[in-house]
Amino acid sequence: MNHFEYKNGELFCEDIAVSTIAKEVGTPFYLYSKATLERHFEAFDSGFKGVDHLTCFAVKSCSNIAVLSLFSGLGGGADIVSGGELFRALSAGMDPKRIIYSGVGKTEEEIRYGLTSGILLFNVESAQELHRINEVAADMNLKAAIAFRVNPDVDPKTHAYISTGLAKNKFGIPIQEALDLYLEANEMTNIDVQGVSCHIGSQLTLISPFVETLRKLKKFALQLADKGINIQYLDLGGGVGITYDDEEPPHPMEYAKAIQEELAGLDVTLILEPGRVIVGNAGIMVTEVQYTKTNRGGEQEKHFIVVDAGMNDLTRPSLYGAYHSISPVVEKGNGSQVADIVGPICETGDFLAKDREFPEVAQGDLLAVESAGAYGFTMASNYNSRPRVAEVMVSGDQFRVIRKRETMESLIQGEAIPEFGE
Ligand code: LLP
Repeated sequence: MNHFEYKNGELFCEDIAVSTIAKEVGTPFYLYSKATLERHFEAFDSGFKGVDHLTCFAVKSCSNIAVLSLFSGLGGGADIVSGGELFRALSAGMDPKRIIYSGVGKTEEEIRYGLTSGILLFNVESAQELHRINEVAADMNLKAAIAFRVNPDVDPKTHAYISTGLAKNKFGIPIQEALDLYLEANEMTNIDVQGVSCHIGSQLTLISPFVETLRKLKKFALQLADKGINIQYLDLGGGVGITYDDEEPPHPMEYAKAIQEELAGLDVTLILEPGRVIVGNAGIMVTEVQYTKTNRGGEQEKHFIVVDAGMNDLTRPSLYGAYHSISPVVEKGNGSQVADIVGPICETGDFLAKDREFPEVAQGDLLAVESAGAYGFTMASNYNSRPRVAEVMVSGDQFRVIRKRETMESLIQGEAIPEFGE
């Protein structure tokens, strides 16, 4: 359930017409509904209220500090994967004791930043990373709290680019090799072994891979206990999918119930790292039709709707062939046609939709690209020297720009025309 609804043929975000916002901020822009963000966070988090847990929102999915601050206020934490994301989480006022740090390539500088900030845990992904963390912590005269991200070799049955828990993926430490590493870490002077973590993939529509993973982690935690290592945190990662088209992902309550049943008997704090399931359907991208055209001469006529947002603004369709539902912001009841909805970028791969049955539209019409709250703005780039678009948040009948549209000046910020000596 989200708060994007048509009222008398016009799309509203909560109590404001989307077209009203477009008039003020221009297009394209990302638009988030505060009530939906809150509702989705609480729907997810409350499913686990029966167990000791921490919901660490995956910052990479939607990293605006307004969004992070909202979740922080609801008791959430953050799952970060870079120094930049740590900076964002802290800037949003997030308690460092609710921040966990994942990712395969943490630099020494980033590890130092995490330790200085006093984050809860590093999710360690390799033996070399363990050694590096131990060295940095020793240098700082600290003990670093860690969990190992184990790779359980479970098939999440999702898109190959976003499945992470198979043995062939680069993530984590193979579960069968992890025990030795735990024993080694346990002897290190500047390491405090506190948990086991994993993340098997994204946009999962089945519960069974999560349950299979948890079963493996539980068995592993018992093996650790046998060796005298009692873990305090068990981190199941993120990954619950959403409906973009006709997918039927589990309801967060159903997911939470299955996880808790499987967890029974293990005395740990459960950590979860949801991203998409919370923000995905809490945001849309609004774009304006620039031109319509029909190319003839091929085997068949091809209709194009050229809009002012491109693959640099929302890359998921180009990168993953992902489906995003698109609708006119104002319904006109026109006839429909099959068209490609494309951006202004000079690449054939620059499309938001292909061969889509779509109402006939005209120059100046606004379109809403749905389910764009996750991995939308965060994956945007300046390709083709396009300033990144604005982000806006609505609450009731008010809206605020939470990230200004970039300017021409911001495009060349930091660049210089060099002068070289003779
Ligand atoms: N935890 C870790 C360690 C992750 O790598 C991810 C996502 C998450 C949590 C959050 O997963 P979620 O709950 O959002 O599924 N750009 C792709 C998705 C990449 C996901 C990367 N990792 C997309 O647009 O579909």
